[in-house]
Amino acid sequence: MDASAFEGYYKKTPAERLEILSKQAQLTDAEKSNLQKSGALEIDAANRMIENVYGVYPLPLGLANNFLINGKEYVVPFAVEEPSVVAAASNAAKLARPAGGFTASADPSVMIGQLQILGSKEPEKGLKAILGKKKELIEEINKLDPSSIVKFGGGLKDIEGRVAESSRGKMIIMHALVDCRDSMGANSVNTILEALTPKILELTGGEHRLRIISNLAVHRLARAKAVWKKEALEESTKGEFKGSEVVERILDAYEFAVVDQFRCSTHNKGIMNGIDAVVIACGNDWRAIEAGAHSYAAYKHPYAPLTKYSKNKDGDLVGEIELPLALGMIGGAVRSHPLAPISLKILGVKNTQELSQVIACVGLAQNLAALRALATTGISAGHMKLHGRNIAVMVGAAGDEIDEVAKLISQDKKVNADNAKMRLEELRKKKK
Ligand code: MEV
Repeated sequence: MDASAFEGYYKKTPAERLEILSKQAQLTDAEKSNLQKSGALEIDAANRMIENVYGVYPLPLGLANNFLINGKEYVVPFAVEEPSVVAAASNAAKLARPAGGFTASADPSVMIGQLQILGSKEPEKGLKAILGKKKELIEEINKLDPSSIVKFGGGLKDIEGRVAESSRGKMIIMHALVDCRDSMGANSVNTILEALTPKILELTGGEHRLRIISNLAVHRLARAKAVWKKEALEESTKGEFKGSEVVERILDAYEFAVVDQFRCSTHNKGIMNGIDAVVIACGNDWRAIEAGAHSYAAYKHPYAPLTKYSKNKDGDLVGEIELPLALGMIGGAVRSHPLAPISLKILGVKNTQELSQVIACVGLAQNLAALRALATTGISAGHMKLHGRNIAVMVGAAGDEIDEVAKLISQDKKVNADNAKMRLEELRKKKK
């Protein structure tokens, strides 16, 4: 690779960039042609979204169904590459229906903006001065309305802070609590922090360093709950396990995540399988959601599962989830990605609270599905069904052959390319 070939790359058009990259990475014509296929996100639009664009990266969009939330029916778009995620969520949502589906709630859209102040001679006094003046500060900033959200009911709502000892000396860490309404909040929060800074420094002395939103959005939590009746759980195993046994096994699986961080990481990853997929389909920042979720899992206690499970008096399984969900329905990629508004339309949500409720339910459903499978028949059966189809395609199966080969290799319990190739050849010979 000749690094000098990429000089001034940012000044080129996407087509020119692809040309340079193809030469340098020795891409074949077929590879180049795949990179030229752009789909709904046209190359010019992509080029306005990020830097150095040379193509777009498509993901499958699948629809999870059966979600009954607070008495309303939803179908949910998932953008995800992993097999079984959509089917698992749909299945868990279906199994929750006999007990009425999900109940969910979400906090107002209050985000934390952090302001770091160093070099204050008397940081404790400075902090006291900020807190003593917070009513006036809030009024002043909201009158200025630097992020134009006051007219929508948003704006600066509160100010908190603490003094932290650090190896670089004492620092004041001030939190501006900003109601961002239907935006994710990064721009509103950062603008408000910038407007606040001179006023805060007048009170504290010293200098400011960072001014940035926190992804640990503890004031913007979403919660969901569902009951899975033991009868529904029994039926889901086709009678292989008694319902009460499935409940106990899921409780064992949950407890594993409670006591073991290695398991807990994977437990929470499974939750995020569904959550990220919807967040991506809706054009939102899934890294922010991931950061918030995992830091909330370790907020004020050791890293813990984002879900909780218990058994009710009827012996049915009760599942609950709580996590920060800082989502936007305006601005950012929601506006610039042509598919994001369509996902929001399919969801039929009227504001970010409703969107958060749906996504919290998805996370809970995804987790229940994983625990149910892991605690009973194991995860491979479901995974292998889709994986088998992929392998069938990989060895050249087409049309009906795909499902036929997938079924045969799954029956053989040999879901691999060699067996798929052999089965495909047999099938074709038979059909001749
Ligand atoms: C795989 O993507 C997710 C699971 O590992 C989650 C879990 O173990 O709970 C199946």
